Amino acid sequence: MDNIMCGIVGVTGRQDATEILLHGLEKLEYRGYDSAGIFVSAEDGQNYLVKEKGRIADLRQEVGDDVHGSTGIGHTRWATHGVPSRDNAHPHVSEDGRFYLVHNGVIGNFAQLKAEYLADVNFKSETDTEVIVQLIAHFAKEGMDAKAAFKKVLSLVDTSSSYAFLLMDSQAKDHTLYVAKRKSPLLIGVGKDFNVVCSDAMAMLNVTHDFLEIADGEVVTITPASVDIEDAEGNKVERAPFHVDTDASAAEKGAYEFYMLKEIDEQPAVMRTLEQKYFDEAGNILIDQDLRDAINAADRLYIVAAGTSYHAGLVGKELFEKIAGVPTEVHVASEFAYNMPLLSAKPFFIFLTQSGETADSREVLVNVNKLGYPSLTITNVPNSTLSREASYTLLLHAGPEIAVASTKAYTGQIAVEAILAKAMGQDKDLEVAKNFDLTGELTKVANGMQALVDEKGQVEKLAADVLGTTRNAFYIGRGIDYDVALEAALKLKEVSYVQTEGFASGELKHGTIALIEKGTPVIAIITDPKTAAHTRSNVQEVVARGANVISIAAEGLATDKDQIVLPEVHPLLTPLVSVVSGQLLAYYTSKQRGYDVDKPRNLAKSVTVE
Ligand code: G6P
Repeated sequence: MDNIMCGIVGVTGRQDATEILLHGLEKLEYRGYDSAGIFVSAEDGQNYLVKEKGRIADLRQEVGDDVHGSTGIGHTRWATHGVPSRDNAHPHVSEDGRFYLVHNGVIGNFAQLKAEYLADVNFKSETDTEVIVQLIAHFAKEGMDAKAAFKKVLSLVDTSSSYAFLLMDSQAKDHTLYVAKRKSPLLIGVGKDFNVVCSDAMAMLNVTHDFLEIADGEVVTITPASVDIEDAEGNKVERAPFHVDTDASAAEKGAYEFYMLKEIDEQPAVMRTLEQKYFDEAGNILIDQDLRDAINAADRLYIVAAGTSYHAGLVGKELFEKIAGVPTEVHVASEFAYNMPLLSAKPFFIFLTQSGETADSREVLVNVNKLGYPSLTITNVPNSTLSREASYTLLLHAGPEIAVASTKAYTGQIAVEAILAKAMGQDKDLEVAKNFDLTGELTKVANGMQALVDEKGQVEKLAADVLGTTRNAFYIGRGIDYDVALEAALKLKEVSYVQTEGFASGELKHGTIALIEKGTPVIAIITDPKTAAHTRSNVQEVVARGANVISIAAEGLATDKDQIVLPEVHPLLTPLVSVVSGQLLAYYTSKQRGYDVDKPRNLAKSVTVE
C-alpha cells in the first residue's frame, strides 16, 4: 500500500510537543487525508502512539489530556491502494518498539525488500512504510547505529521511489530525529532550543518563521540544539535558513464557514496586490530584465501544468500569443513528462503551479533542466521545489490557498501571465502591448470581481434552482470562454460531485448533444463579440432539447434573459471575472448538498507523487 500526498510534522525540544504536532496536522488538513497519528516521547521515558481513522478532530479526542512529551512525530495519510484504517495510519513502529517512522511518498520496491530481508517479521499493516521501519530495525539489530541503519535503508530504496521520511529512535536520550527526502517536500523549522519538521511551513508558523530546505539525497540529524545536514557522500553541508513572512493569521478562516468562499472573496485584493508588486508608481513593470531577455529569446513557449493551473495556462496561451506575439503551447504535465512533443529550436518553459510541489510538473522540469532549456515557475509558494529548480520565479502573492479547489491562484496566475506578456511585448516594441493599459485594466477587473462577489446571493439562488439535484451539467463557450468553461466545470465536479463537462459550444452538436435531455443544466459563457451570436444559437439548440440554461454574458453583449451579467473588462481578461460566477456556482452547489466544501472526497491539495 502506498501513502501519498500525506502531511508530516515533527518536533524536538518542546514540552508542548503534543499540541505542536496536533496544531501542525490541522494546518496540513488541506492536503487531503483520511487518517492520522502521532507518536510522542516524554522525558520520563513514557511513549505514546495514537492513531485514528478520520479527522484530526477525532485524533485530538483520542489523544485527550494524557499524552505529553517533548519529542514527537505526526502524520496525515491519504490512502491509495488500500483502506484508510488505524493499522495503516502512521507512525509505523518496528517490531522491537524502537523506531517510529512517518512517510510521504511511494516505495517502488517495498515488496522485494520485504521478501529479501524481513521474512520473519510480523507486520501490522499493509503499508510500504512499515517495511522501511522494520528494515531500519533489522540493520540496527545487526549492530549499526540509528543513522547508519537509516542510510543503509535509503541506499536500498529503488530509484522509482519517492519519499519524505521522518524517523525517531525512541531509545535515543538526545531527542534525535532523522530526516531524508527524494521528490516529496519536507522542511526543517529552526527554533531556539527546539527544532521542527514539516511538509509545509504553514504547519509551524505558530512556532517559527525560519526554515531550512533539504535537498534530495541529504540526510539530516536534528536535536533540540542542532541541525546537521549531510550530503549523499557524507560531507557536512552548511545552509542558511530562509525567512517566511506569511502571517499565521493569513491562513485563518475568520468568520467564513469555508476557506473556498474566503478565497473567492479575496480575489479583488489579489488583483490589487499584484498591481502593487509588479508595477512601480510610474507604471513600469517590475520583472527582471534577465527573465524578459531570456523569454524573448525563445521562439516558442511551452506552458506545463496540472489541474486548475493547466486551465490558467490555456488562457496564458491567448495572452502570450496576442500580447507578446510568441507561439505558445499548453501541456498537461503528466502527459508531457513521458511523451515530449517535438520541441522548437529555442523553447522556453513556463511551469504554472500554485503549490510549486506538483510531482507531475516537477518531473518535466527535471527533464527540461537535463536538456539545458531555460524555465520559469509561476507559483504561490516562495522556495517551493519548482521555484528552486527553475531558472526564474514569479510569485502570485495570493496568500495561502487552503481549500483544495483552487480559485484565487487561478486568477492570480492569469494576471501574472498578462503582466509578463505585456513586459515581453513592450520589450519587442509591439503596439498591442504598449497600448495595453494593464494597471487600469486590473483595477477594472478588481472592481468587477468585487461587484460579482457582492452579489453572491443571486448565484446562491441560481445554484439551488438549476443545480440543486442534478447528476450532470455542461459549461459551454468558445475561445477564451471555452477555456473558462473547462475550469468552471472542474470546479463544479470537484466540490459538488456533479458530473460536469466543459465543452466548446460549436462542438456540442457533433455528438455530445445526445446527452441533453429535459432539465439538463447547461451554463453558457458569452464574453466575445466575435462568437456571441454563434454561442447563442448553440444555446437555442440545447433549449430546444429541454436544457435548463444559465447564461453568463458580458455587459455589452447581455440581454435581459441572461441570469448573470459580467462587468465590462478588457476582452483578454474576461476569464478573471467570468470564472468568479463559476466558482460561486460550484461553492453553493456543494454547500447546499451538505458537503465539506474545502475537503472534497478523494482529492488532495498538493499532489506530490506522479
Ligand atoms: C491538485 C489540486 C488542484 C490543482 C492541481 C495542480 O490536483 O487538487 O486544485 O489544480 O493539483 O496543483 P498546482 O499546485 O501544481 O497548481
